Amino acid sequence: MKLQHQLWLIYSVLFILVCLSVFMVISNRYENHLKIGYGQVTITQGAAMLDRLKETYPYAPKRSVAYLRNFSQQFNNRLIILDQDKQVYADSFGQLDQQARLNLAILESAEGYTSEFYNTENFGYVQYTLLPFTTEAEHEGYLLVISEASQLSDEIKSFQFWIMQMLGIALVVFFVVSYFLANWFSSPIRKIIFNLKQITPQKRTFSMAYKRNDEIKELIDAIEKMSDRLNQYDERQKRFLTTSSHELKTPLTTISLILENLPYAKEDEEIYNEFIQDLAFQAKKMKQMIEQLLQMNAMWDVGSRKESINTQDIKAHLKQSFQYIAEDKNIALEFDFAAIDLYVDKTLFLRGIDNVVSNALRYSPANQPVKISIKNVQDEIKISICDRGIGISPGDVEHIFEPFYRSNDATAWNQEGSGLGLYIVKQMVEIHQGRIEVNTELGQGTRIDIFLKNLK
Ligand SMILES: Nc1ncnc2c1ncn2[C@@H]1O[C@H](COP(=O)(O)OP(=O)(O)OP(=O)(O)O)[C@@H](O)[C@H]1O
Ligand SMILES: [Mg+2]
Repeated sequence: MKLQHQLWLIYSVLFILVCLSVFMVISNRYENHLKIGYGQVTITQGAAMLDRLKETYPYAPKRSVAYLRNFSQQFNNRLIILDQDKQVYADSFGQLDQQARLNLAILESAEGYTSEFYNTENFGYVQYTLLPFTTEAEHEGYLLVISEASQLSDEIKSFQFWIMQMLGIALVVFFVVSYFLANWFSSPIRKIIFNLKQITPQKRTFSMAYKRNDEIKELIDAIEKMSDRLNQYDERQKRFLTTSSHELKTPLTTISLILENLPYAKEDEEIYNEFIQDLAFQAKKMKQMIEQLLQMNAMWDVGSRKESINTQDIKAHLKQSFQYIAEDKNIALEFDFAAIDLYVDKTLFLRGIDNVVSNALRYSPANQPVKISIKNVQDEIKISICDRGIGISPGDVEHIFEPFYRSNDATAWNQEGSGLGLYIVKQMVEIHQGRIEVNTELGQGTRIDIFLKNLK
């Protein structure tokens, strides 16, 4: 069922409920109001009659009946006088015996003037009014007035009919108004759906003008932001794919060139061996590059899953990974780790740190130490990797986090490397909502500081 129709249905059901309660309340009020009016009239008439009736009570029952008959014809009702024990004394119809006891509910409740209405099977709507009186000689008695009240029920019915007509008209008006109202409320949602359906792999932008400041506006903003982010991500992937293919082509071109010339080099063993060495080097480079690309792909696809890792484990991991490389260059790996539990995505985090440490080792001459420290700084964790290596020139620093970027100094210093290491580090830091700082001086060394929020 469409949202618009759901809203319409809810409005309508609510309105019908409201109408019904209004109808009940108003018609009840009106009925009570009418009954009070009818009661008043009878009480006034009864009081007038009592002046005469008191003269004959309780001494002359026959004359009382005559009076009663007279009044009864005049007012078109039945009059009964009851004695103080509520037994019949005189009846205008002359049908009830003296001292007969009537079985009427009004006689039970009566204290003072009372008027009650009953819907009887034989006579329709009937009004009973009981008026207590006391004669001058202190004799107590009651006058019971029984009158037909069909006019009252007619008035109530016609009033109810009138209200129903009014409510019926209001209902029709409401149905129409609420239909358009529901339509108006849900129209932005339909517009959003329409715009979303227009999105294709080629055209992925989402924008929609909307003036009100409500949840729909929030939804539109969220979709716009999401589409922007997805587009950025997509753009980055595309750019990355183009750059990667381009970068992979370079060693491949070299490999095919060498392979083309290999048959001619067969005669000269020295050149032949050189060719084979170059082939092995280019293949290794490609392998490294592909490994880095796979790592990055994994990083993009997997969302971060935080786990706890302590600095001891990090130290053990780094020692295991870099001890031999460091020993080979006679580089001392110095650790200064505070005892901290870090909440990070372990795989991404270690991959990032590995890349920075590997750079420090790769771009340092022999015998120069590499210092790695982890400590708490205010509410952040600071990881520093410091070397006394070749350093980075100011012109290169701003590019080192770009994929495949390698400075000329670095390439001259060490042929190996694809220029993806720091790009991966940057991704890791972004995923952990941290930041990275580079302090470096050409020929002096480099310190990379990574700041992470240690949040669970
Ligand atoms: N500790 C460092 N000392 C000097 N230069 C550095 C250092 N770390 C990074 N660089 C510079 O930043 C560039 C990018 O580093 P990155 O780690 O991304 O690539 P890479 O080390 O060349 O290759 P790989 O993808 O194998 O890591 C390096 O080529 C080098 O120019
Ligand atoms: Mg590197």
